[in-house]
Amino acid sequence: MPRILITSALPYINGVKHLGTLAGSMLPADVYARFQRARGHEVLYVCATDEHGTPAELAAAEAGQDVFTYCEEQHRAQRDIGRRFGLSWDWFGRSSSPQNARLTQHLAEVLEDNRLIEERLDTLLYSIDDHRFLPDRYIEGTCPVCGYGQARGDQCDNCNSLLDPMDLKDPYSAVSGSRNLEARETRHLYLLQSRMQGPIRAWVDAKSEWPMLARSIAHKHLDEGLIDRGITRDLAWGVPVLRGGRPRPGFEAKVFYVWFDAPIEYIGATQEWADAGGGDWRRWWRTDAGAEDVRYVQFMGKDNVAFHAVSFPATLLGSGEPWKTVDTLKAFNWLNWYGEPFSTSHRRGVFLDTALEILPPDCWRWYLTANSPEHSDAAFTWEQLTASVNRDLADVLGNFVNRILKFCEARFDGAVPADGEPSALEHKLYADVSVRLADLTAQFEAIEARKAAQALRGLWAAGNEYLQAAAPWTAIKTDQARAAVIMRTALNLAALYARVSAPVIPFAAETITLALGDAWPPSWPSLDARAELDRLAPGSRVTVPEVLFRKIEEADVAAWAERFGGVPRPARSRDPRQII
Ligand code: 2FM
Ligand code: ZN
Repeated sequence: MPRILITSALPYINGVKHLGTLAGSMLPADVYARFQRARGHEVLYVCATDEHGTPAELAAAEAGQDVFTYCEEQHRAQRDIGRRFGLSWDWFGRSSSPQNARLTQHLAEVLEDNRLIEERLDTLLYSIDDHRFLPDRYIEGTCPVCGYGQARGDQCDNCNSLLDPMDLKDPYSAVSGSRNLEARETRHLYLLQSRMQGPIRAWVDAKSEWPMLARSIAHKHLDEGLIDRGITRDLAWGVPVLRGGRPRPGFEAKVFYVWFDAPIEYIGATQEWADAGGGDWRRWWRTDAGAEDVRYVQFMGKDNVAFHAVSFPATLLGSGEPWKTVDTLKAFNWLNWYGEPFSTSHRRGVFLDTALEILPPDCWRWYLTANSPEHSDAAFTWEQLTASVNRDLADVLGNFVNRILKFCEARFDGAVPADGEPSALEHKLYADVSVRLADLTAQFEAIEARKAAQALRGLWAAGNEYLQAAAPWTAIKTDQARAAVIMRTALNLAALYARVSAPVIPFAAETITLALGDAWPPSWPSLDARAELDRLAPGSRVTVPEVLFRKIEEADVAAWAERFGGVPRPARSRDPRQII
């Protein structure tokens, strides 16, 4: 049974993230981690804040804080909000950790020894008024691709093109607004990815498990030809550049580029976890220390794929050291907000802190899994959110659980009944549930978020259909033993629902589990539905929980649309599930 290492793309430190970040990396990683733990695998799920680079320095300056204090506060805020969403990280680290600095410096030295890093003379923009070079986001100007006037040096927020600061038209300093700039020469380190073209292609080609989106992005970059990348910047905040354990001459005012050290923090975070008493990090990362038995799965948005499919592997493979590399790279498309991508810099969309002010975490987790931007971009709409919560969670799952628990309390004295033998109806249910469980397990295993949600929905609906056909409220009047079988089966169905729904809606699953007196955390069921639907000990006590899912009212949607934007379309115009 392989151990499973899971990482989700490290969220930038510059403020609380939006729902798109949750949907496209952290949530599916968490769902997968919870599923695999329930399956009995040893799982390590690590994430961290991505704290270096210009976004952190600029955001700190805007907040009027020094960058160290800013990062500390924002790290804590992101960790707390993640926990409130139920993200079950084994460790949530910081890319500014000493562990990451040591690893980054070590890998850079080894790569240089292997002639895969070299110093080059660059011509970069220098701000005479600010007395500094202007890397990446320190420079803004007009996008050469779409003409947007406030494009950043590294990326245009309007058309999402990746840019080189030297390509911007009409550049100005993001620090002071000054246009008093000149091109100056300065030395930087380059990672010679062009020399790794052959090994990286062979490595990608061997990754038959990668889903299509990641493979196609990786092949696009390989087909275009890998280019050498500058991996140092003229910044104060970041991992210092050393040589032989001392500041590298000429690089005293430079640090490693954020995209060089950020993925290394996956290992750094594991070392942080190990140093805090978590266990041996080498078992997870060094193939000479047991990591050959690890299955490593990464989760990220599609804009991160090139860094994980090319640059990070170039670092690890180029080192010549026995590092574990990714086995499955699961990438996601965008979650769009009424026609435009969610955006941190434009404060567009719903952010994670405010999301929890309006709905409990499970509602978001379910909605964002069932409508995951998995195989294409997905559109957030208030109607679709309402349909997911009201129909799936409240009407189907919540209603089933509340109904049978109330019935058990009223007619069976709140205890799992013992009498009676299963009839043909129960045998039909066992067959149906077995098939559905097999499908659900396969979809979770394949990391197919939408299909897993669809399979869950089908399983919940099967319970309602069973209850409708079995009609315990009629049976109780004429045949106590028959009503007891139905009740026992329905209570076991609820327990099964809690176990298989827990990866997606862990809070409700725990409430249901505890109401049924069942074991938490849950284990994944076998495909033997007959055994799984006769598991709860007869005579054991059950209680009725509070309503599991409160329905969203039209007035709620109107208030949220007013507060967050996004125009609610008339209800019932078409099945919202068909929109995306
Ligand atoms: O795009 C982003 O949000 C980056 N902070 C992701 C980094 S992933 C990893 F490489 F660290
Ligand atoms: Zn643009």
